[in-house]
Amino acid sequence: MRILCIGDVVSQEGVEFLSARLWELKRRYRPDAVIVNGENSARGNGIDEYAYRQIIDAGADIVTGGNHSFQKKTAALLHEESKRLIRPANLINYSAGKGVLLLDFGRYRLRVINLSGSLCMTECLNPFEYAQRLIETDSDAITVVDFHAEATSEKQAMGYFLDGRAALVYGTHTHVQTNDARILPKGTGYMTDIGMTGVRDSVIGKAIECCVHNFRFPDQRMQISDAKGSCMLCGLFAQIDEKSKKCTDIRPVLVDK
Ligand SMILES: [Fe+2]
Ligand SMILES: [Fe+2]
Repeated sequence: MRILCIGDVVSQEGVEFLSARLWELKRRYRPDAVIVNGENSARGNGIDEYAYRQIIDAGADIVTGGNHSFQKKTAALLHEESKRLIRPANLINYSAGKGVLLLDFGRYRLRVINLSGSLCMTECLNPFEYAQRLIETDSDAITVVDFHAEATSEKQAMGYFLDGRAALVYGTHTHVQTNDARILPKGTGYMTDIGMTGVRDSVIGKAIECCVHNFRFPDQRMQISDAKGSCMLCGLFAQIDEKSKKCTDIRPVLVDK
């Protein structure tokens, strides 16, 4: 099966760029499933019904989340009611919605698992123990993991931990695409971070001036605003052999104009 994954869509700018450009990526890669991380898609971070609907209308099949999933007041209800929306399965303080989504393609089933890392992230249950438990429950499905984590070391460790058991493990959250898409020794497609979809000249999608100010003057922090300007789209494309459930091809995706 062919899978297209798109990194964190940031703000209305990112959502509009996704809406404008996803169709041509779908024509080029012909994916069976499109997985989009939407944790920053609402204005000022988080996800709301408006942004979620736009991402689905753009052509996403599954929308994943992260530490910002429950930032908006309406998020709990949105996660309860939205069939194609998931959030990290191992969050501690949030119970609305689900962290795993199963799609039945007839000949095979796709299982998407969203997990949060434990280093410098929202408090969560141990992602490795959680992954171990989940992976054992349905070893028959083609498993894809969006590992929403800050530390490259934790993401690499998760890749090797699931090597040969998940078809694809990729990172989200840091918004900077890494140059390491590859197939691990036991057949799992892996990429440390697939990057973001949003304004190119920004600090991870936010306005440069306020981010620089807040780093310079941590005692006089100002409100961070969404960046404006030309956008880019980052993600990955992977091909999975349905029988062996191993990855046979993985490539970074970057639309930068
Ligand atoms: Fe993000
Ligand atoms: Fe995040």
